[in-house]
Amino acid sequence: MKIIVLKNKEVGKKAASIIANEIIKKPSLVIGLATGKTMIPFYKSLVSLYKKRILDFSKIITFNLDEYLGIDSTDPNSLRYYMNKHFFSKINIKEKNINFLEGKSKNINLMCRHYESKIKRIKIDIQILGIGKNGHIGFNEPGSKFNSGTRKVKLTNSTIKHNFKQFNSKIPKYAVTMGIKDITNARKIILLASGRNKAKVIAKTVNGPISTSIPASILQCHNKSIFIVDKSAASKLNSK
Ligand code: F6R
Repeated sequence: MKIIVLKNKEVGKKAASIIANEIIKKPSLVIGLATGKTMIPFYKSLVSLYKKRILDFSKIITFNLDEYLGIDSTDPNSLRYYMNKHFFSKINIKEKNINFLEGKSKNINLMCRHYESKIKRIKIDIQILGIGKNGHIGFNEPGSKFNSGTRKVKLTNSTIKHNFKQFNSKIPKYAVTMGIKDITNARKIILLASGRNKAKVIAKTVNGPISTSIPASILQCHNKSIFIVDKSAASKLNSK
């Protein structure tokens, strides 16, 4: 596990520069993607590299981590909508190369099995992750098994509170997510965290025991995991 501590503004840029180098080396890079506030500067940096003609996304393949259950991809609250808004609509990715869990699938279990077998077949080169205040990765909440696969999950109250500030009406309590096993099977993992509200969980994840109570702690066992965190998120780490 490698930890890189940077100024807040540099976190997204650093992750984008790693991805850029990998795409230049392998234009058909397979990337696992996340949503959330932390990811916005990262997508901005990638879009700016595309606009400067430094990057070509025409061959990349993406798999997003998660989606809310019962929500259509055209719904502004969906994670698919977020991805279109911040990234996909701004670059030259091919629609057929975008893989997303369907929140409104009629057969959720079957859809999850297909998604997972496609990931196994294609294999993710780099997985980008954020982290919840409770240590979740994707929507693998505390208690999720380290060998869990793609599945329907119940969101915790803290995740609902954090993620649904924008919801005015019906708040989804369930989601579909890639499992911890799907995530840790990626060849490389980059986790981003910024802000003081992530300091405790970053310290527990990096310095604490490996435990399902902090799902991200399993990344201590991944020999190619990199944490890119800002100074506030790193402020409670033991080895500064
Ligand atoms: C969302 C996802 C989540 C977020 C995490 C952090 O696709 O995978 O694990 O990365 O909840 O969200 P922010 O960045 O909003 O704090």
